[in-house]
Amino acid sequence: MDQIKVLLSAIEKKIENISLKYLRTQSSNLIKKYRTFRKFNLTYDEKISYITFRMPATFKAIEYCLNQLKNLQLNTKINTVLDLGSGPGTALYAYLSVFKSFDKMTLVERDTEFVQISKDLSKDIKELKKVFFVQMDLIAYKDYDHDLIIVSYVLNELKIYQIDKILKNFIKSKAKVIVFIEPGTKYGFNNIRYLHDKIIKNDLKIIAPCPNNFKCPMPKDDWCHFFVRLDRSKCHKYIKKGTLSFEDEKFSYLIVTKKDSKPYKARVLLNPKKKDSKMLLNLCQDGKVFQNQIDKKDLKNYKISKKIKWGDIIK
Ligand SMILES: C[S@@+](CC[C@H](N)C(=O)[O-])C[C@H]1O[C@@H](n2cnc3c(N)ncnc32)[C@H](O)[C@@H]1O
Repeated sequence: MDQIKVLLSAIEKKIENISLKYLRTQSSNLIKKYRTFRKFNLTYDEKISYITFRMPATFKAIEYCLNQLKNLQLNTKINTVLDLGSGPGTALYAYLSVFKSFDKMTLVERDTEFVQISKDLSKDIKELKKVFFVQMDLIAYKDYDHDLIIVSYVLNELKIYQIDKILKNFIKSKAKVIVFIEPGTKYGFNNIRYLHDKIIKNDLKIIAPCPNNFKCPMPKDDWCHFFVRLDRSKCHKYIKKGTLSFEDEKFSYLIVTKKDSKPYKARVLLNPKKKDSKMLLNLCQDGKVFQNQIDKKDLKNYKISKKIKWGDIIK
């Protein structure tokens, strides 16, 4: 079964006795806390509202990044996964959606209620015996020896020394790949840009979205981000007070390895735009961000550029 369906059905079960009107108020409180006060101490009911309108979106963002990892076809076998700051366990479903199975997955979360929510949501999944729920501060957690580490929508809540510690632990461990995902905002990208510099200094390899290990060329007041489109369920639409049947989740990310890299020429930033007789492609290539113009007269490349999407790689 489709993992998003598995997740949505588990969420539905978890909220079946709660009024949607009440959840809508809780989600407004949560958004206000995050945006206005940058406070992350949520009440239990705000955490429940998180699973209704944020979890499907973060699932899609994690799934997108893991698909990027899979499509690069590195010579890296991934059997064990560590999710740091796992919240309600979103990465578990996204990982299964892309890689189908694992030998072991460890979810580290400091918040007791989120740990309980992730246990409640996942109680019917087949792989449960191989999932380990650890209630602990991720900085105190020592066993980074998992093939893949996921840190999704967490850096925002950490101090710089804690972010440094995650990278240090990754370097020291036997872990092969680490994936960082943050909201696709100027603020979210600041953390990604900070990590980008550190990663280069530590001689690690960025395999996505950056096509190389040059200094990030994104101008200071701009931010590199991507998006995924997700369908809103009836409940999601109601809670979000939305009118559209879908929403776009914007995120910034970095996938980092210790040695594996598959070089490609460029990454497409933004959707290509048609202007007069030209197709305008925004690219990150050779340590620069720039706009490439492909004229209609260049038949072959123009035809190719019409199929290109935001986030694609150019080989
Ligand atoms: C916005 S949620 C993201 C949850 C999940 N990773 C996702 O993508 O949906 C951030 C989570 O990180 C957890 N967190 C923040 N700081 C932490 C720390 N120092 N140790 C463990 N968990 C932490 C929070 O409790 C929260 O559950």
